[in-house]
Amino acid sequence: MGRVMSLFEDDALFQGQQQQKLCTGAFVLRGFAFAQAMALHEAVSRMTVRAPFRNMVTPGGFCMSVAMTNCGSYGWISDSIGYRYDAIDPQSGQPWPRMPEIFMALAQSAAAATGFQKYVPDACLINRYDPGTRLSMHQDMDEHDKEAPIVSVSLGIPAVFLWGGMRRQDEHIRIPLFHGDVVVWGGPARFRYHGVLPIKEECHTLTGRCRINLTFRKVMDDSQGSG
Ligand code: SIN
Ligand code: FE2
Repeated sequence: MGRVMSLFEDDALFQGQQQQKLCTGAFVLRGFAFAQAMALHEAVSRMTVRAPFRNMVTPGGFCMSVAMTNCGSYGWISDSIGYRYDAIDPQSGQPWPRMPEIFMALAQSAAAATGFQKYVPDACLINRYDPGTRLSMHQDMDEHDKEAPIVSVSLGIPAVFLWGGMRRQDEHIRIPLFHGDVVVWGGPARFRYHGVLPIKEECHTLTGRCRINLTFRKVMDDSQGSG
C-alpha cells in the first residue's frame, strides 16, 4: 500500500519532530513553539505594558542595541554596577511580571524533549531585536544554578545564531533561526559561547519588523537552600 503523507504528519514534522543536535547537550527544535507563537506573543505584549522593553547599559557604559525586559521571579539586568539578576524591575521599582503558564509549559516541554527533566525556570529574559541589532558572543554565566539548561524561543523575523565553543576565540557555526524554533543548551554545552549576527530588515505577520527571543533560565540553585 502506498504511503500518503497526511496534513497531520506534515504538521507533526513542523511542530517539533525535527531535532538537530549541535553537540552533546545542545539541540535545535525546529518549529517547536510554532503552535503557541501567537499566544506567547500576546503574553509578551501584555507584560510589556508593566515592564516595557528598554535598552540597558553595560558596565563599560555602552547602550545595548537589543531591547530587553523580563518576567518570572528574577530578571536579568545590566547597569554601571554590572550584570546580575534582580527580583525587582529597576525601572518600575516593582517585581517583574509573573511568568505566564504558557511560557513555563513550553520551556518544560522543550527541556524534556531534549532530555532535561524537571526543569523549573525562574526567569525569562525577553529580547527584542530590531533590524541592525546584534548580540555579541557571550556565555550565560550569571545564573547561580549551573546545572539547568537554557531554553531559547525565537519569534518573528529570522536571525543567524552563532554557536561557539568554550572559549571566546573558538570557531563558531552559523545557525539560521526562524519563527517558532527553540534552542536548548545544558549539561556539557551549558557554557558554550553564543551570539546573534546583525538582524536583517524583514517583516513578519505576527511581530512586524522585529525578532522576539525568550530565554528561560534557572537563576536560583535549590541545592544551596537551607534544606
Ligand atoms: C541570548 O543569548 O540571550 C539570546 C539568544 C538569541 O536571541 O537567540
Ligand atoms: Fe545568552
